[in-house]
Amino acid sequence: MSHAQYLRDLLRPLGVYDLVIIGTPVWAGRCSAPVRSFLSQYGEEMRKTAYVITRSSEVRYEEVFDQMDMYVRAPRVSAVTIRPNTVGSTFWRDEFLTSIRDGGKEKADNAG
Ligand SMILES: Cc1cc2nc3c(=O)[nH]c(=O)nc-3n(C[C@H](O)[C@H](O)[C@H](O)COP(=O)(O)O)c2cc1C
Repeated sequence: MSHAQYLRDLLRPLGVYDLVIIGTPVWAGRCSAPVRSFLSQYGEEMRKTAYVITRSSEVRYEEVFDQMDMYVRAPRVSAVTIRPNTVGSTFWRDEFLTSIRDGGKEKADNAG
């Protein structure tokens, strides 16, 4: 069973959700292969998406949001990148959640 199929089997039909928040690490400047596969197969089902991206370095992550948008029906409503254990990562996580609750706006896109 593929990673994408495993994730899909955990869920109800994705179209029933008002918002799907998708998390992925950055791998070689791109979203991770399992998440890319998942988006490729099911991206069109999701009505609204937001992204949480984790990374270990300062570089090579800006294109990940746009890469993910290519697979979904509508562009993301919000996104955040987080470097774990850096000063500010908790702040940006909370900013992201606030922006989602406010209806989605990409005001948090850089932590650490
Ligand atoms: C194969 C591989 C490629 C990676 N490439 C990048 C990269 O291009 N940019 C980056 O910031 N982090 C990169 N990382 C680091 C991961 O994004 C990071 O480990 C992940 O966000 C999760 O953090 P954690 O290791 O604390 O669990 C890479 C990790 C792996 C395993």
